[in-house]
Amino acid sequence: MGAVILGTGSCLPRRVLTNQDLEEIVDTNDEWILSRTGISTRRKSSKGEETYRLATVAAENAMQMAGVTADEIDLIIVATISSHMTMPSCACFVQKELGANKAFAYDVNAACSGFLFGMDNADKYLRCEKGAKILLIGAETLSGRTNWEDRNTCILFGDGAGAVVMEYEDGARGIIGSNLRSDGSLWNLLYMHSAPSSNPDIFQADNPGSHIMMEGREVFKYAVKAMEGAVQELLERENVSISSVGLMIPHQANIRILKKLVSRIGIEEEKVFINVQKYGNTSAASIPIALDEANRAGRLQPDDLLLVCSFGGGFTWGAALLRW
Ligand code: COA
Repeated sequence: MGAVILGTGSCLPRRVLTNQDLEEIVDTNDEWILSRTGISTRRKSSKGEETYRLATVAAENAMQMAGVTADEIDLIIVATISSHMTMPSCACFVQKELGANKAFAYDVNAACSGFLFGMDNADKYLRCEKGAKILLIGAETLSGRTNWEDRNTCILFGDGAGAVVMEYEDGARGIIGSNLRSDGSLWNLLYMHSAPSSNPDIFQADNPGSHIMMEGREVFKYAVKAMEGAVQELLERENVSISSVGLMIPHQANIRILKKLVSRIGIEEEKVFINVQKYGNTSAASIPIALDEANRAGRLQPDDLLLVCSFGGGFTWGAALLRW
């Protein structure tokens, strides 16, 4: 019917950054962070834990579960906004590290929705190239894109990577459909500049550096409304009721956003996988990390309906339905 997931994997940096650690860096406290975001800890990369290295280990774990070797991979897609280089792509570094010699590789930039957008790309590619195998990865080291003096943002984000191996399968399993959206007119509510241009003729007086900038309250409002709309439209289009969903894996941005979303779409809380308390918001990595944890914990059984949804800078947002 569509693209199925053969294996999942993830990789988190070793170093744990607690709310108490953050109290040493900015004027904040554990109680404020926990009550506003639900986050207790996040991971922070150290030397040797660049985005492509986390991505590579996550990919190896997913390939091992799938029983697929690097030389069988035809396409590597990495969703990221924090590669250590702008060129080559993070995906090319992963391809090199794995020795996936026949694969072509590229990155997707859709911020926190990158994995979801990449999954849709992969599904549509596999419907045309039915024998292909795809490695889809979400990987971030947002610790390197964080303004550690800004308490509004530095408490939210974390590092990590998650991966899946996908192939096409006839039958009932696989991706049923997705509903993806963007609204570039709202870019300035959540953004991150590139390095300053070397062309002095291009105006950039307002370039504050390559840090995440955010209007938290506005983002909050849009995030809930946008994900709710994307999920409702998708369920309606695919003629699926929310009660038949076995597991929902939302982008792990913030517990308050998730709670509001869950109550608005009317899914039981125990069907929603949440690990934001441990890893914070890992942007494009959050869904595949959660998917790997859920899978390894036995939360997904054959035939289960999986609902995935996300929201991020752009704005970008959407939802996808998959039969496990
Ligand atoms: N510790 C303590 N106080 C903090 C703080 C921190 N880490 N960050 C902000 N504050 C203060 C503010 O300075 C402000 O103080 P003031 O009233 O004296 O000016 C007060 O807390 C309230 O700030 P506000 O920004 O209105 O808080 P909020 O209730 O909206 O919570 C967020 C802030 C960021 C947690 C919340 O807006 C949010 O979750 N937004 C969505 C963010 C997100 O998920 N982005 C990624 C989407 S993919």
